[in-house]
Amino acid sequence: MFSRLIARSSSQVGAFTSAIPKRYSSIISVHRDTKEDNPDIAFEFTSENKKRADEIIAKYPPQYKKGACMPLLDLGQRQLGFTSISVMNYVAKLLDMPPMRVYEVATFYTMYNRHPMGKYNLQVCTTTPCQLCGSDAIMEAITSHLKIKPGQTTPDKLFTLQEVECLGACVNAPMMAINDDYHEDLTPEATVNLLKQLQDGKELTEVGPVNGKRESCEPFSGPKVLLSKEPTDIRKFTRADL
Ligand code: FES
Repeated sequence: MFSRLIARSSSQVGAFTSAIPKRYSSIISVHRDTKEDNPDIAFEFTSENKKRADEIIAKYPPQYKKGACMPLLDLGQRQLGFTSISVMNYVAKLLDMPPMRVYEVATFYTMYNRHPMGKYNLQVCTTTPCQLCGSDAIMEAITSHLKIKPGQTTPDKLFTLQEVECLGACVNAPMMAINDDYHEDLTPEATVNLLKQLQDGKELTEVGPVNGKRESCEPFSGPKVLLSKEPTDIRKFTRADL
């Protein structure tokens, strides 16, 4: 009876889902030794980064220093360019953690790149608000211009493209992050323009909305709140006895 139920529910699930194309994450987190990423490649922080690491670790009680795992992985990634197995092993040793615990963290969060990256990491958000505002066209513009798909790096190692979930800038959708900076209110033309500037060796000095219609995430029709330059006296809005 139970197996019949399972069989029936599986076939029903199949009926509902068979028409939906499967989409997989562009990044597979399984480790395979490669010549750029294997445990025999030595890694340690530069003296400057070691100083920063010590400052970060000092923020945690000694028995909880594993709380520094994420910032130290980030530091390692910034130094090497990606989170190699040697970076993870080094962080595990620094924090007295079993290496597997560090691998779990590094493979759960998408900001840790487990493979060598291009100079510019393009993260295009395709979650619902961005998709409704045209992220498919942004992705199409990038893949056509660079001739790469999500998860791939251009042969000149300049760009790596990733399709990601919401990056928290939905009000300015569609958007993409280029390394640490957000570029928002994108159009396909504006996106290609950004890429061309980087291909020409220029640094992008402007971040945020690219269309010149707003400075930040205010409505297109202009700011509606927090208009005063004076600090708000919060007592006007709360009960006197609080
Ligand atoms: S949905 Fe794209 S930034 Fe939130």
